[in-house]
Amino acid sequence: MRKKFIAGNWKMNTRGIDGELLAAAVVKGLAGDTRVTVAVCPPFPFLPRVAQIVAGTPVALGAQNCYPKDDGAFTGEVSPAMLVDVGCKYVIVGHSERRQIFKESDEYINAKVHAALKVGLQVILCIGETLDERKANKTEAVLDTQLTGSLAKITAKSLKNMVVAYEPVWAIGTGVNATPQQAQDAHAFVRNRVGQLCGVAAAQTLVIQYGGSVKPDNATILLSQPDVDGALVGGAALKAEDFLAIVRAGVG
Ligand code: 13P
Repeated sequence: MRKKFIAGNWKMNTRGIDGELLAAAVVKGLAGDTRVTVAVCPPFPFLPRVAQIVAGTPVALGAQNCYPKDDGAFTGEVSPAMLVDVGCKYVIVGHSERRQIFKESDEYINAKVHAALKVGLQVILCIGETLDERKANKTEAVLDTQLTGSLAKITAKSLKNMVVAYEPVWAIGTGVNATPQQAQDAHAFVRNRVGQLCGVAAAQTLVIQYGGSVKPDNATILLSQPDVDGALVGGAALKAEDFLAIVRAGVG
């Protein structure tokens, strides 16, 4: 049985005090319930403040990005070791916004995956097709390319510290979520492909989150699909009430 995992990607939103209040409301609402794995991923500057709020609670801390080196002359970048130092358990890698806006390649994303795993972070690897790619029936080919590139040299053992988030680009921030069937089909494809790349047993235990306009009113049906093991939530993660409702949907 894979435990459901709901993570909030706050993206470039909040200020310090909002982040603290939001995290505190999530902690309070969760009330120590551990039936679902829960994480919040605030912007870099607020990680230490939110770390203090979630310390000693079941809410884990994640970052939204990292640079694939430990230290050095990389002005403006943040290393995986620094994320561990401020209390992160997770790091999101390969989000479509980074792929599209910052032109990140699968090779670069793969370097980040390895660097993050090396220091003991758990990686949330995002993949997903654009609307044009879906319309051209290229969804599986795109997922295949992204998985093959981003998971290069990832063993079954390393995969234990990874989560894959299937986030169709056309569903992100649009209010148009993938249908439960579209999500299930993509997740089944991802699990099968990861099985070929890293081993079938490891793929069976891999948590695959869905992301893209997850809201309280569609979370239950999406999360009830057999291969949908959680959600990576953007907009709805900025409201504690909505985020907690999605977490409750994960309890089933
Ligand atoms: P929305 O939930 O706002 O569509 O964002 C999804 C996402 O990109 C999470 O990483």
